[in-house]
Amino acid sequence: MTNTLLVLGSANADLVVEVGRRPAGGETVLGGDTVVLPGGKGANTAVAAARVGARVALVGALGDDGYGSLLRESLESSGVGTALVKTSPRPTGIAYITVTPDGENSIVVSPGANSDVAPSDVDALALGGVRVLTCSLEVPLETVVHAIDVASRAGVRTVLNLSPVADLPAETLEQLTVLIVNEHEAAQLAADWNGLLALGPAFAIVTLGSRGAAVVARDGVVEVPSIEIAEVVDTTGAGDAFAGALSARLAEGDDVVRAARYAAKVAALSVTKAGAQPSYPTAAEVG
Ligand code: RIB
Ligand code: NA
Repeated sequence: MTNTLLVLGSANADLVVEVGRRPAGGETVLGGDTVVLPGGKGANTAVAAARVGARVALVGALGDDGYGSLLRESLESSGVGTALVKTSPRPTGIAYITVTPDGENSIVVSPGANSDVAPSDVDALALGGVRVLTCSLEVPLETVVHAIDVASRAGVRTVLNLSPVADLPAETLEQLTVLIVNEHEAAQLAADWNGLLALGPAFAIVTLGSRGAAVVARDGVVEVPSIEIAEVVDTTGAGDAFAGALSARLAEGDDVVRAARYAAKVAALSVTKAGAQPSYPTAAEVG
């Protein structure tokens, strides 16, 4: 079965600990038991897309270690193609995550194997049959720039979740179909939402947390609402859930606004459960 969605990005073991509050510099606080969960922006995006029915493969890298096995197993059991996930001599990427009682997280990422994802890993062969390429930025910038270039020249639509924020070449931004940012990233990039479009993408999407998202197009802004959530448990990976679900719907032929409506629902459902990948809903759960 050919994949219609290709995701390029990181795979990390998420080491998650609940804390009452975060320590200040030089301070120690005691937290709960450490929970190890499959994560990483690329793997999360691919798993979120697969859960809602996308035929998706990941381009990435894992270490030859226990965390690498955990990640590969999570990808495969979710139905994500792993033929383009290579094994690196470096350790699997790790994200050190603290979650506070309000469900907010803060994260330190140690990229490890993700640093080995190279431009040569994305070529015309990898893109055969693919309609949408979706990237995030915990892998080397030059690899993302190359992948977006190859894809856009091949007529593949391109989505970039600009997380974490990086300095992109002007040509790359112009090659994008959809640029996804959160409010914080949007403010770093442009004075206002229309300024995001001036950077070059055909569409910009600003994710607005519990308020949903705004789709910024040449002919105006459409706000897509979120759904009411009883309790926020863990927001980790909610942005990746949005990017994955959006990409899945784009690969199925939805327009950007329709895809964003769906993605806002998926992201909202993901914050009601702990972790990133384990919290992503299936198409049936989204309704
Ligand atoms: O976006 C959430 C992800 O960021 C986590 O899964 C963690 O691995 C970090 O990459
Ligand atoms: Na979650």
